[in-house]
Amino acid sequence: MSPSRSAAAERIEKLREEIREHDYAYYVLNRPRISDEAYDRLLKELQTLEETHPELIAADSPTRRVGSDLTKTFPTVRHSEPMMSLSNTYSEEELLDFDRRVRELLEGERYAYVCELKFDGVAISLIYENGRLVRGVTRGDGEQGEDITNNLRTIRSIPLSFKPPGKEFDRIEVRGEALMFRDDFLKMNARRAEAGEALFANPRNSTAGTLKLQDPREVAARPLKFFAYYVRALGGKSRWKTHEEGLQELERLRFPVMAVHRVCQTVADVMRFCKEWEEKRDSLPFDIDGAVVKVNDLRQQQNLGATARAPRWAIAFKFKARQAVTAVRAISLQVGRTGVVSPVAELEPVFLAGSTISRVTLHNEDFINEKDVRAGDMVVIEKGGDVIPKIVSVVPDKRPANSKKYRFPSTCPVCRSPIEKAAGESAWRCENIGCDAQVKKRIEHYSSRHAMDIENLGEAVVAQLVDAGLIHDAGDLYFLKAEMLLELERMGKKSVENLLTAIERSKSQPLERLIYALGIRFVGEEGAKDLARDFKTLAALMQAGEDELVAVEGIGERTAHTIVHFFQNPGNRKVIKKLIDAGVNTKAASGHRPTVEAVFKGKTFVLTGTLPSLTRPEATRLIEDRGGRVSGSVSKKTDFVLAGEEAGSKLDKAKSLGVKIIDEATFLKMLGNR
Ligand code: IVH
Repeated sequence: MSPSRSAAAERIEKLREEIREHDYAYYVLNRPRISDEAYDRLLKELQTLEETHPELIAADSPTRRVGSDLTKTFPTVRHSEPMMSLSNTYSEEELLDFDRRVRELLEGERYAYVCELKFDGVAISLIYENGRLVRGVTRGDGEQGEDITNNLRTIRSIPLSFKPPGKEFDRIEVRGEALMFRDDFLKMNARRAEAGEALFANPRNSTAGTLKLQDPREVAARPLKFFAYYVRALGGKSRWKTHEEGLQELERLRFPVMAVHRVCQTVADVMRFCKEWEEKRDSLPFDIDGAVVKVNDLRQQQNLGATARAPRWAIAFKFKARQAVTAVRAISLQVGRTGVVSPVAELEPVFLAGSTISRVTLHNEDFINEKDVRAGDMVVIEKGGDVIPKIVSVVPDKRPANSKKYRFPSTCPVCRSPIEKAAGESAWRCENIGCDAQVKKRIEHYSSRHAMDIENLGEAVVAQLVDAGLIHDAGDLYFLKAEMLLELERMGKKSVENLLTAIERSKSQPLERLIYALGIRFVGEEGAKDLARDFKTLAALMQAGEDELVAVEGIGERTAHTIVHFFQNPGNRKVIKKLIDAGVNTKAASGHRPTVEAVFKGKTFVLTGTLPSLTRPEATRLIEDRGGRVSGSVSKKTDFVLAGEEAGSKLDKAKSLGVKIIDEATFLKMLGNR
């Protein structure tokens, strides 16, 4: 080894050791020893050294926690010993039963228990070989789980390596729970709400979802934590003889072990531990749903054995969900930024598990009907594993005599336009793009990169313009004047000019972008392209009926229905009129289409039935490229009905009106150039 290289190797090892110390102090002991800046400097130095000496990179280096490889599917791995579940008990009697069984099976031996918290997270198994983390697996069905090593490596409190203090540590399995602290979870959800992303129901779901992400960099950005509660030597005997000693070994190896655990000599002590933590659970930074009681001695554990699904030496004492009874003052409706109309129960404020609750979601119409919740009812609310309280049931005896069943309204509580419920969905939605509740989100979408791509008009500026009352919908953008904008904060001459230029430029965006920008539900970029290609103008699209829309490749019945309703909505029509008045392009570009003679100029076609070789969009294009028009219904003004197999009522109508009917062969001949 060259001197410079051996010096580097030494320095690298020293840095790694130091950084591991700091990680341990920060993530496991919660007692940081240096400032973030000093820590970053160490990490940076290590990174630089490893870059210049790539041959010295090691998998357990603190720089290697977060990989960049995406995992599409996680391989399935069999656990060397099944990860069993625990039997649950819900009362003191059941706990006494458990203790009686243990006593009988141990035939008079003395025994003790260890009581722990039952973390409400996701169980994980970690395999270490020669002191290095080689595999991390989810519990799965207990027999086999998914290999999520790369994601687990990003959890900073999980050691990537340790110095094996003896032979029995050469191959070990550590089990424990991955979870999120409530505060971290709430902050993360708030950020997601801000970004318009789906919210997680509780820290557990959020942990489970995070562990299955494909990109470890995303996992690293989420606040996952870990607590170890089990260690096993895979290569034979271990020197720890009790569960308690196992936890101590884990602590020595620098695994995070929850400080709250207690050795109890009697079942009465066990009961005290359970009661105590049932009361104090809200003082913990994370959710627990009970306590776990384990026979301490490992040999006794072995002798007690297990049933098919759970060990006989351990049991979970489940805490009761925290409940309260209170009155529903009213049922109100909220319109979300995407138009979803959600019912909310306004409650007589009541204190439950650490916070005062005055509103609780009623989810949707189906939920209200199922529980039959009415204004004036007394309801039981509960905070279970979820941070979010929910309505469990109505107290029927307390219902006021004059109470009336709740009827879901048919109009939006904010803008009064009719609301819609798509087939197969439970949510009612307001589809009016001018609706106050949705204004900002809609305009942001209109302006976004894949829509009208208006530079400088992001979330902050949209909010500023809406809040100042300058715009109410996308149409208003085109009527903004420099004088109005200059009044606003942070709007200098240059930025106003840039913004107005960007808005002006958006007028000539292609039709497909405009269609996408309108934000019709279920119409994504692809759908917008299909619609623009087949209808050619916004006016034609607005007049299209459901069957014409369904005929477009890529447009299904649900989307067709939504499109028709979208354009019927008076609020939406008003916005579109503004766009047209402003001079926004509403026609498909015709430049790059093949130049053919306008042999169908002024002619109207109606398509019906299935043609032998052409699809409907193809036939439509052939007609329109030649100056013709395709209409959805037959009238006296129709020039030709192009009919295929199984043509229906349109064909009959054509016959009765004496409209000329042609087949595909004739049509192709008429094209002239085929
Ligand atoms: S010991 C057979 N200890 O409970 C021993 N489990 O129902 C089972 N859990 O999937 C594991 N906190 O996710 C153990 N302190 C704790 C626990 C705990 C939570 C979970 C674990 C497991 C489930 C079993």
